[in-house]
Amino acid sequence: MTVQHTGTAGQDLERIDGVAKVRGLAPYAYEHQVDNPLYLHPLQATISRGRIETIDTTQAQAAPGVVAVMTHLDAPRLAGTDDAELAILQSPAVGFRGQFIGAVLAETPEAARAAAALVRVEYTEEPHEAELRADRDDLYAPEQVNAGFPTDTRDGDPESAIAAAQVVVDQTYTTPFEHNNPMEPHTTVAQWVGDELVLHDSTQGVHPVRQTLAPVFGIAPEKIRVIAPNVGGGFGSKGVPHAHVVLTAMAAQRSNGRPVKYALTRQQMFFLAGYRTPTIQHVRLGADASGQLSGIIHDVIEQTSRIKEFAEQTAVPARMMYAAENRATSHRVAKLDVPVPSWMRAPGECPGMFGPEVAMDELAEACGIDPIELRVLNEPDIDPESGKPFASRHLVECLREGARRFGWADRDPQPRSRLVDGWYTGTGVASSTYPARRQTGNTARIRHDRAGRYSVQIGAVDIGTGAWTALTQIAAEALGCNAADIDLQIGDTDFPVATVAGGSTGTTSWGAAIIAAAQAFRDRHGDQPAVGAHAEGEAGENPAAQEYALHSFGAQFAEVQVHADTGEIRVSRMLGVFSAGRIINPRTARSQFLGGMTMGLGMALHENSVMDPRFGMIVNHDFAEYHIPTNADVRDMEAVWLDEVDEHAGKLGARGIGEIGIVGAAAAIANAAYHATGIRVRDLPLTADRFLA
Ligand code: MOS
Repeated sequence: MTVQHTGTAGQDLERIDGVAKVRGLAPYAYEHQVDNPLYLHPLQATISRGRIETIDTTQAQAAPGVVAVMTHLDAPRLAGTDDAELAILQSPAVGFRGQFIGAVLAETPEAARAAAALVRVEYTEEPHEAELRADRDDLYAPEQVNAGFPTDTRDGDPESAIAAAQVVVDQTYTTPFEHNNPMEPHTTVAQWVGDELVLHDSTQGVHPVRQTLAPVFGIAPEKIRVIAPNVGGGFGSKGVPHAHVVLTAMAAQRSNGRPVKYALTRQQMFFLAGYRTPTIQHVRLGADASGQLSGIIHDVIEQTSRIKEFAEQTAVPARMMYAAENRATSHRVAKLDVPVPSWMRAPGECPGMFGPEVAMDELAEACGIDPIELRVLNEPDIDPESGKPFASRHLVECLREGARRFGWADRDPQPRSRLVDGWYTGTGVASSTYPARRQTGNTARIRHDRAGRYSVQIGAVDIGTGAWTALTQIAAEALGCNAADIDLQIGDTDFPVATVAGGSTGTTSWGAAIIAAAQAFRDRHGDQPAVGAHAEGEAGENPAAQEYALHSFGAQFAEVQVHADTGEIRVSRMLGVFSAGRIINPRTARSQFLGGMTMGLGMALHENSVMDPRFGMIVNHDFAEYHIPTNADVRDMEAVWLDEVDEHAGKLGARGIGEIGIVGAAAAIANAAYHATGIRVRDLPLTADRFLA
């Protein structure tokens, strides 16, 4: 007889951390209780490029409650300065507006902030450049783009194929500068205990923070402890430590052993926590009259900071999405005097599926066929890029299932066909994809604490994704016990090494380590382990990744209403159908998909960091003017998935779900807006003025 265990993988288990979070009992970094803390407020550059000539801290030093003011003149010297984003206060140079140039330490946050306003700085300003344009003459090809992908690819002769094609789409699409805005701001509490640095940090990876900071401070990684039991979102912006962690740890070297607390303000997050580069995407598609693609070209222009390169992999999804004999992609980057871009939910795929998926909608119309049928027609047999078979590619099933649920068959054949009570109404579709990866270098430890109870340790971080719950379920399944018998311990470098909660790799990578540890535990101790029995397990690479192309797929459907007189746009319905391998917890998975789709809705309608190039500054750097979706914007939104186990995705059978929900969502909404109004908008966001042609 098989024993049915409760709460194991695949079951609809409530969030283990849910009750504590709702009751306010789950401590976030800033809330961690420390004795006698000091509070930090930073000094930030008010020019975009140049150098500090004088910095007068006299008044600030004398202000009430101030303990210290630190500038480049007296800050501790860092051991490692290779990373220019992190090498702060080491010289008078200024690389972008908002960059850290010092810090005030005081007895209260208010005293620190008030004193920071008293510091007088004189600069020598140099001309700066902060505007991304396609006609810049300094665009360059980076050596590679984010996640190690090649900068350019080419198969066949796409220019000739498109020139000879019966139907051509040749258009430019843009996505704006966007900022990650997790609910919890970036926060660090730093304390030096002897020669050891202890950080309570709001991060997506405790071990990555330790590994990055160790060379900066010239100490062994083991001398840094990073603790992050609860994190209020990150969306990639907490995937790598930014300069505030260095600033806080540096300040704690000047505090006579007192801990230092620093939480970025919402405004500061628009300068110092990464962002998504704006993109200018030239898409060319060539097809025969039936819609069969012969050529695909995706050329992307984007930006990085002059002080540090981050090149978003925007053209990468066009390499594998559809079959066409002739294909080319490229990335060209401008170095600007702006903050350093970084990861934002689905870097690459998210912006990179906007241009091409709107272009597919344009091609469908030009060929006179349904946009779903166009995608089905161009479905590749194998990965066009690598030549490998797909481990699992169910895009067509997602499109078909979505069409059935969404009522696609009732769609008006022509755009601008439906005007009800002053609102033009239309529907749109787009495909979605995201790669499935397992990161190596994850270890888990299992201990039999007392009869029937196991502690499971790994340095993973739950950034709101549900990792506390999902990893508990994976451990219970692997050990053959109930979820209630597992005492999961995560979010601390004292636990075995784990990789970042990023790239939709957390559950698959940490889960593989937990499964390996459970296997080792059972191999060594059997079904009747003694109390105190323990084992460790490490997950290596997924061997199937050598043979197969591993990607998730999805279909995004949107219904949009645009007011005929005002251009106001509302998304009345969204449906996402996803194929992501095995779903470990339907409750938390649904939240992940809906969260991604909601962020996609924000990308479509709201998000837009407005750069004023004269000042090199994002002018709408707060929530009053940088808009993200609120409850009122999210109406009827549904996410479903195919029942599936990906046998090539390791023992877990899962492919990761954190990012695919945002991919394609903005294109589906833009396509729906076109169907509603007959007005094709190729530049995000889709604000009301665009529909008042
Ligand atoms: Mo995610 S943007 O890879 O942290």
